[in-house]
Amino acid sequence: MTRNILHEIPIALDIGIAEIDSQHRQLHTLLERLKQSTDKSYGFAADTIIGELVIQTRIHFAVEESLMRLLSFPDVEAHVEEHRKLTEQLEKIRKRAQDFEVADGLTNFIQTWLVDHVNEFDREFVGHFLAKGVDPQASPVTRKPPA
Ligand SMILES: [Fe+2]
Ligand SMILES: [Fe+2]
Repeated sequence: MTRNILHEIPIALDIGIAEIDSQHRQLHTLLERLKQSTDKSYGFAADTIIGELVIQTRIHFAVEESLMRLLSFPDVEAHVEEHRKLTEQLEKIRKRAQDFEVADGLTNFIQTWLVDHVNEFDREFVGHFLAKGVDPQASPVTRKPPA
């Protein structure tokens, strides 16, 4: 069964801290663009998007890990280990992409790589961050969508 997840997933992804939600939405948009760009064949567009995804993921994980450490979140090491695994998975997708296989299973990849992580790990630090005084409404940095 296929369904269009382009519009419904970003809402399900929100954890209630605007800056982090903004980063998750940006990652999700890149994943959806990757899926669309590989529907027919792999090419320069997919290569560019994966490159951007790697960069934005690195930034996002660094932000979360710094915040967890600065705010003394107790389960930081388990979360960092999960980020390390996700980074490995992304590298595998990048390699598979070069073998023209990336379109297969990309919807599942989006679900497990981004959505499941947000729901199982990122939601865990929200209460802690808010208790430490993080402003959930702090305006997210305005980013240009990737070209
Ligand atoms: Fe995250
Ligand atoms: Fe995370």
